Amino acid sequence: MSSENIDNTVSSNIPVITIDGPSGTGKGTLGRQVARYLNWHFLDSGALYRILALAVLDRKIPQDDLHTIEALAEKLPVEFEFGNDHWQVLFEGRDVVSELHTEAIGHLASQLAANKEVRRALLARQRAFREAPGLVTDGRDMGTVIFPDATLKIYLYASPEVRAERRYRQLKAGGLDVKLSQILQELAARDERDSQRLIAPMVAATDAVTIDTSDLTADEVLAKVLELVKERV
Ligand code: C5P
Repeated sequence: MSSENIDNTVSSNIPVITIDGPSGTGKGTLGRQVARYLNWHFLDSGALYRILALAVLDRKIPQDDLHTIEALAEKLPVEFEFGNDHWQVLFEGRDVVSELHTEAIGHLASQLAANKEVRRALLARQRAFREAPGLVTDGRDMGTVIFPDATLKIYLYASPEVRAERRYRQLKAGGLDVKLSQILQELAARDERDSQRLIAPMVAATDAVTIDTSDLTADEVLAKVLELVKERV
């Protein structure tokens, strides 16, 4: 979304921590841990795009019927809740967390996300998650477009090879027969689309703290971020 057609007036004192970056950097795990630590709300913005993709497939909406897709995006019935020992993503009250992370959903989510009207439709939806005592959120444009006034902005980076390797191990551990080269190819294609699109491209905010996670464990990244939280929040 270019800066001239987005409302950047912010009138909230509620603190926000944004975590942006490409897929496979551990943004989601980190965001959930920080939200639990602070006892704040959590928004996985990628899940909104993924749920939209799931709903489009579920309801057999043609992908070029942007009018219907935008209307659906505006009213997307989704909630994030900690329950049954994990963060649940409730779509129409049903926990869909295990359905969202297929490559087909990620691919369609990223295609829909390149559409200006779809992003506009999800803008207010995302800002509405800013509730007391605070919000931790992860995505691609949380610090640049959705919450430009965030208290703390983190940008996570890791080389495509490291991210592909992590995803490969995750899927293998889940018993899936996958090829590392294919994962790397899909990940590179999604990075390319997300960072080259004209509206709200994936980029670090100028005031973000960038952390290269390539050689760090998830615990080391969490420790670094909690230091920043203690200093700034
Ligand atoms: O983060 P995740 O991989 O779940 O996001 C799925 C897709 O949704 C991304 O590839 C991206 O195209 C889109 N997305 C976005 N802006 C966000 C979050 C996700 O464009 N803030």
